[in-house]
Amino acid sequence: MSQNQNEKEITIRDQMKKFLIKGFYGFNTILSSGLGRRLGIFDYLDKKAKKLSESGPVSSISFTPEEITKELKLDPDYLDAWIHLSLECGIFEIENAQQRTIKTAPHVYDLLINRNHMFYVGDTIGLFYYFAPVQDDVIELFKTGKTLNIDDIYEEMIIDGHRSSARCGVLVEGLFSKHFKDFSKIIRRQGKVLAVGCGYGFNMEKWAEKYKKTRFVGIDIDSKAIEFAKKLIEQHNWNDRIKVFKITINEYAKKSKEKYDLILLNQVLHEMDHDEEYRRSVFEDLHTLLKDEGVLLVGETMIPDTFSPKKGFQLFDIMHKFLEVKFAKFYDEKSFKEFIDLTPFKHAELIKERGNYFWAIRK
Ligand SMILES: C[S@@+](CC[C@H](N)C(=O)[O-])C[C@H]1O[C@@H](n2cnc3c(N)ncnc32)[C@H](O)[C@@H]1O
Repeated sequence: MSQNQNEKEITIRDQMKKFLIKGFYGFNTILSSGLGRRLGIFDYLDKKAKKLSESGPVSSISFTPEEITKELKLDPDYLDAWIHLSLECGIFEIENAQQRTIKTAPHVYDLLINRNHMFYVGDTIGLFYYFAPVQDDVIELFKTGKTLNIDDIYEEMIIDGHRSSARCGVLVEGLFSKHFKDFSKIIRRQGKVLAVGCGYGFNMEKWAEKYKKTRFVGIDIDSKAIEFAKKLIEQHNWNDRIKVFKITINEYAKKSKEKYDLILLNQVLHEMDHDEEYRRSVFEDLHTLLKDEGVLLVGETMIPDTFSPKKGFQLFDIMHKFLEVKFAKFYDEKSFKEFIDLTPFKHAELIKERGNYFWAIRK
């Protein structure tokens, strides 16, 4: 196609709309929602909504600027600027101009504030918000090829990352209980689940809320995360059916007398030591820990090769790659299958619906 033909197809105005304006709105939406989270405004609105929900379902929540200023002790001028930006980005709408009340725009309460909603993406946005201030470090990484030091990252960012992983875990559970209906019922009644790389425990928490009689064991190599997970379990009074340990998979496989119906490896594999031999040894341990009829459920971001044709909506997968370059080593469908072929597991099936997927691995 000649350059002239290309110019006829798309005008500079169209192109501006396509990525510049969208980009400005997108950037400012992340900025406004990130600020809203860190300032405690979204948590405040969530608490208010939860109280109101006692007398009926809530899909939007309203407030006045004065109320936020007073309750959260914030400067009124900064808050006013933040509200202007959030209104412009479509996070809020004017509810009543005379009474000067504002409300969340349609679905925004569920998308950005209500952690219990299936389409909630607040934590993922939070993660990107936290990524913005470390751009100087990112430039350095581009030049040196080094890996971002995890100890230099704020814990709030790591927690958002784990919550975001747990969000993927919830979507995976939805697909799992749909495609393995009978098996998931058995697990609900009397199953034993091992969450490998359970981290701060958010994914296990979501599963445990749904699988109320199931026993869970969570293991991870990060002691900070395990301490946090222990507290989370205590808060829920789940000490009798959920245990977490700071231990390597290899040590656990040697020590454990238990075999599991289901093993969750949710958003963990890409973070593991990149050495293929090590990863294979982990899958040998997982094979040992799984019952013969059990399922190893691997929730992993599959990153396509740069030049492979685009298959549908891939923004979240690609964002994941960008956030964890070098730190993580991802697979695509083909290389993951090749990897599984080198392990003792015999079957690997990719269960996929739209942008949501997981691997069901069996003996
Ligand atoms: C992104 S988090 C996911 C946490 C959790 N699975 C979830 O979905 O909420 C990845 C976790 O894997 C853990 N991890 C990485 N390598 C590991 C390994 N070799 N053994 C056990 N855990 C590991 C990390 O410490 C981290 O807590």
